[in-house]
Amino acid sequence: MKEVRVGICGLGTVGGGTFRVLARNASLIAGRAGCQIRVARVATRTPKEEFDLGDIPFSTDVFDVATDPDIDVVVELIGGYDTAKELVFAAIRNGKHVVTANKALIAVHGNEIFAEAEKHNVIVAYEAGVAGGIPVIKAIREGMAANRIDWIAGIINGTGNYILTEMRAGREFDEVLREAQALGYAEADPTFDVEGIDAAHKLTILASAGFGVPLQFEHAYTEGIANVTPYDIAHAELLGYRIKHLGIARRRDNGIELRVHPTLVPRSHLIAQVDGVLNAILVDGDAVGQTMYYGPGAGDEATASAVIADIVDVARTVLCGNSQRVPYLGFNPSAMETLEVLPMEDVQSAYYLRIQALDRPGVLANVASILSEHGINIESIMQKESELQDGKIPVIILTHTVQERQINRAIEDLEALADIEGQVVRIRAENFN
Ligand code: HSE
Repeated sequence: MKEVRVGICGLGTVGGGTFRVLARNASLIAGRAGCQIRVARVATRTPKEEFDLGDIPFSTDVFDVATDPDIDVVVELIGGYDTAKELVFAAIRNGKHVVTANKALIAVHGNEIFAEAEKHNVIVAYEAGVAGGIPVIKAIREGMAANRIDWIAGIINGTGNYILTEMRAGREFDEVLREAQALGYAEADPTFDVEGIDAAHKLTILASAGFGVPLQFEHAYTEGIANVTPYDIAHAELLGYRIKHLGIARRRDNGIELRVHPTLVPRSHLIAQVDGVLNAILVDGDAVGQTMYYGPGAGDEATASAVIADIVDVARTVLCGNSQRVPYLGFNPSAMETLEVLPMEDVQSAYYLRIQALDRPGVLANVASILSEHGINIESIMQKESELQDGKIPVIILTHTVQERQINRAIEDLEALADIEGQVVRIRAENFN
């Protein structure tokens, strides 16, 4: 199998996540890319002992990666503007493809970087720069290619959203910010998060990808969350609104709006329910209508997910010699597994059961003992005296996750009880975890 040789620059939060996920899911990723993705060099300013690099060449100078003839793709995860910019230009001029998570770099210098990449016929991919693990750039550039996009609005800074969410629960700004830093969500300079600069970087990129205009970060309006008080949060809630820190880009006849600021959104809207470090982006297209992309907007492996997707994209597009950019079913045919669909009896689920029981002593005990005989753990049980009618009363049970086979047998036994009338109603329950 062919090989794509990747050089990782920076082993911080995102670099570390990328290194780990590439190792953990190596064969699965190869099956999708159509070639092996091999980390062929790593560069960080200071060696990181927690990573076992084995025989992977290591340097403390990131430019060693950009000039290494054995590298096909330079993965820029050092952040910042200056060295990162030089590194990306050096990589492009050496004919390397570039994958970056650096939204600041793309928002501020992207126009020049893309022009240089065109000149040298290489790809610069930046999905991980916008909304962490959410593939929103791919959705806008590819999935929405048919649409005139009229506006984009989103929660695109996880740290800010985390702070506002915790403040709603009564916690202090400074304490929550420290926590977000410790969790690896915040930028190296957290004023970028708090003052809306990070969100403006991402919004600038989203707007350009959505509207087809050059990147214009210098014209973005940015207002941070530092002046949002618990008083305003509480009063917005009383009015039926929630304060969220939004980036909003809107196409107008005579230009585009590009603005980041605290914003009241209706509490009933989906975006008001997006809490913690999660991000969500609404994109309005004339053909499809409103779409929403939701998920983790920061964090090591979440962002690594987007970095690696970009590496796979580059590999598929230009390096692996595939006949199609994306295989029909995502994996190359030789990498497909032969997993069969399980019979319904082997499915695992939680269950809501409604049992029409006679109101007499021992009925609940009998029901509970049948469930227990079949190894079914009860999560909750409910019976309301007010629903007693003609000596019968519904018993509602929610189970923990079990196999469908167990529930089928238990239901057979329950329906055979003299204490039960009619059939047991069963609805499957899903907790999405
Ligand atoms: N500091 C950023 C955030 C990291 O909190 O969203 C992801 O870009």
